[in-house]
Amino acid sequence: MAGSIEIAGLGKTYREPVLDGLDLTIGGGVFALLGPNGAGKTTLVSILTTLIRPSTGSAHILGVDVVREPGAVRQLIAATGQNTTLDEYLTGRENLVMFGRLRGLGRRSRGRADELLAQFGLEQAGPRMVSTYSGGMRRRLDLAASLVTQPAVLFLDEPTTGLDPVARRSVWSDVRRLADDGTTVFLTTQTLDEAEALADRIAVLRAGRIVADGTVAELTATVGGQRLVLLDHDGTEVRSIDTDGTAASLDAALGAVPDAERALRATLRSPTLDDAFVALTQSATDHQEAVA
Ligand SMILES: Nc1ncnc2c1ncn2[C@@H]1O[C@H](COP(=O)(O)OP(=O)(O)OP(=O)(O)O)[C@@H](O)[C@H]1O
Ligand SMILES: [Mg+2]
Repeated sequence: MAGSIEIAGLGKTYREPVLDGLDLTIGGGVFALLGPNGAGKTTLVSILTTLIRPSTGSAHILGVDVVREPGAVRQLIAATGQNTTLDEYLTGRENLVMFGRLRGLGRRSRGRADELLAQFGLEQAGPRMVSTYSGGMRRRLDLAASLVTQPAVLFLDEPTTGLDPVARRSVWSDVRRLADDGTTVFLTTQTLDEAEALADRIAVLRAGRIVADGTVAELTATVGGQRLVLLDHDGTEVRSIDTDGTAASLDAALGAVPDAERALRATLRSPTLDDAFVALTQSATDHQEAVA
């Protein structure tokens, strides 16, 4: 079966290349694109959601070409983004009704708006103008608006940025539920816990290229074996040194501990996704500094 999202040789250049010949096939489930500021995440989402055109290559959503048939692609997808499209001078409920009409729900738009307000804990806020909403309420309304009809593919560009921990978890469970109902979710995030909590598959984008792609377990495996970690008396990590898990490499790691730190407590730690992210998103020299 063709993937839900197929990306081939996709490039985007402004003054400089922002996306550099990406190839990616996404079958289903939750896919997280992880990358630091400026990596090109929003640019890729904008191309896949037909807002901007690629400079080279192609992308298809359920076999439909995003450049040649943007109208048909828009029927298949929904998106919430960093640049949100809520109308500040309408109430939350009016916004949802408007999205329902745009999505062809007609008279059913009102009922659907009320369902969504309930689902996202916005019943109280529903009759209020969006200009009075907090950041978290806006995010939830934005997500609700993208779900007026169940899309085949949902794009979420940093869906929980600015939310408190409770609101983040509630968005996560909404996203998971959608994926379980069969929607393919493509989300971008800068935070590892989000990718770890949600994603069936994670790709790391750095400077316009995919530098890693796999499950959480596969990505953490790329940073190698155990790390030797030195802790001070209150348990703060003072130093961590990569090893490949063999006795010889542990020996070398211990040999590299400076005299001043030899009295510290030493322990072994398995790599975390955090370690993988640091390793993958920084150059070799930065990496040395980050772990030193
Ligand atoms: N319209 C534009 N014109 C020129 N350069 C652009 C334009 N849009 C984006 N860029 C550049 O492309 C690069 C990638 O931007 P993009 O917004 O895709 O990154 P991002 O991964 O979404 O970052 P963030 O995590 O900060 O949202 C940046 O260097 C940005 O300055
Ligand atoms: Mg962005």
